[in-house]
Amino acid sequence: MCGIIGYIGERQAQSILLNCMARLEYRGYDSSGIALSSTNIEVYKDAVRVNELVKALPKIDGIAGIGHTRWATHGEPSQVNAHPHCDCTGNIAVVHNGVIHNYQKLKEQLSQEGHKFVSETDTEVIPHLIEKHYQGNLEEALEATLHEIEGSYAIAAITANEPKLVVARKDSPLIIGLGDRENFIASDVPAILDYTNRVIYLEDGDVAVIRKDEVSIKNDGTEVAKKEHQISWTVEDAQKGGYEHFMLKEIHEQPKVIRDTLGEYISLAEPIANFSALSGQPLEDMLLVACGTSYHAALVGKYIIEELVRIPARVELASELSYTQQPLARTGIVAITQSGETADTLNAMRRLKGAGKKVIVINNVVSSSASRIADQTIYVRAGPEISVAATKSFTAQLMALYWLALSYSKVDISRLDSLVMELRQLPRKVQQILDNAEEIAECARYLAKYENVFFIGRGINFPVALEGALKLKEVSYIHAEGYSAGELKHGPFALLGINTPVIAIATQDNTYQTMLTNIKEVKARKSPLIALAEEENGVIGELADLVISVPKIDAVFSPVTNAVALQLLAYYTAKQRGCPIDTPKNLAKSVTVE
Ligand code: AGP
Repeated sequence: MCGIIGYIGERQAQSILLNCMARLEYRGYDSSGIALSSTNIEVYKDAVRVNELVKALPKIDGIAGIGHTRWATHGEPSQVNAHPHCDCTGNIAVVHNGVIHNYQKLKEQLSQEGHKFVSETDTEVIPHLIEKHYQGNLEEALEATLHEIEGSYAIAAITANEPKLVVARKDSPLIIGLGDRENFIASDVPAILDYTNRVIYLEDGDVAVIRKDEVSIKNDGTEVAKKEHQISWTVEDAQKGGYEHFMLKEIHEQPKVIRDTLGEYISLAEPIANFSALSGQPLEDMLLVACGTSYHAALVGKYIIEELVRIPARVELASELSYTQQPLARTGIVAITQSGETADTLNAMRRLKGAGKKVIVINNVVSSSASRIADQTIYVRAGPEISVAATKSFTAQLMALYWLALSYSKVDISRLDSLVMELRQLPRKVQQILDNAEEIAECARYLAKYENVFFIGRGINFPVALEGALKLKEVSYIHAEGYSAGELKHGPFALLGINTPVIAIATQDNTYQTMLTNIKEVKARKSPLIALAEEENGVIGELADLVISVPKIDAVFSPVTNAVALQLLAYYTAKQRGCPIDTPKNLAKSVTVE
């Protein structure tokens, strides 16, 4: 997720572009750059944040320009990979947010036609394709380019020959900001609120030509009229997309994160990880290592791999790895880290590498330290996660683990087909839970008065009970513990009673009947019980004090739907208790100390 901006008007564009870009850095901040159009195109870019770029920039004339703040997907953060990207003549400049899936093929084709590429990015094929199709009209050249690229994009292009910005949108947000004898384009509203609050939202397939005093929009070659919206948000509000907290915004981004992450893997020709090629050994078992929420994703990964790949999977806390048995030669090793900067996980990876092991990392930040230590990186597409409490990154990590297991699965073809079908349903099912948030908020209002809470689950949802407890602890400051439901009777039962509510994950899989027994045992000890159950589960309705219903889905995917529901429960409980949700005390988004 990057931020793009464009300006055309009567004022000097440079400072306006930079100011707008600073407002977009919540979307990505590993590089930044601008291109200004006057008699020619001048580009300045580097792997720095906007405030550093401002310091390094000479004064450049130009009343039209484009800018970009980057969240690297293809090619590490560097000066050459930063946007804008240009064609061979340097006369066409482009900024892009999204992923071009077929860029490799296009790059090969264009190279054979003599185009010279300088970066590792997917985006750079766009200005070269525009150049290939350019006959003096930028929007026609862009339209022709759009017919060749596959993927998601918000694109803005300029050329020195024509006083206009040309933009296109598909599966990435793009707006037009309307001013007085000046106009803007941007990935999101926050960027332009200092200059205008009159906004047009572009739809998928829209291609727009923006001049200082005119905007025309086409879709599928036909002129389309668009409604103008008046925005009443503050800039800070807008960065949250109108949500009160980044945590809630990021929870609501999960259907898209699932689509983007799976979309990436589905488009890959080869499996997302090739253990045997890396270690030269057949894969016999796996070791997963991580911390915090990523550790809980690894624990879910254990159940997924053991059920689908039918090989043993061991999970270790990264901070404990050095005190445990070294993995064997035929062990596939996967580290999981959202930030890629967690010291415990990096040390564990270095220790394994030091022992001659090959390590794959599942990571959300391109070119993080972890991706540089690893022998191979599986990137997830959660985009920048601002709230300290990890939510969308957890779901994205599970997508990587599902795809990894499916690409090594030993299940029969009909089971495989039905699993892939169910996986495609996941974004819609998660959206159902988000649409049903009020029911969860009601449970949160009930839960907020307690100081001790237990979460219980069985099988693949035992780690989800751990994650639910971690989320509640982190953001609401309630002391919460997650347990395998079978463990309660071995001690924690002593703490049950009217002041210790229990959240039970009652997914109707092979653990359901035993879970019902455990729920009755909890009720017998007077603990209030909130159950997570698939809709129309009348039995649970009889037993539980409150029910959070989640859509029915194949049990192997239920950790996703259950986790999203528990993220919302933690969020609304923290809100009820007036906690500083995005920045809980004593915590950091990336723990860079041991
Ligand atoms: C989760 O909400 C916390 N922010 C924390 O437990 C986090 O998951 C842990 O520090 C690991 O971070 P990583 O995924 O960036 O390595």
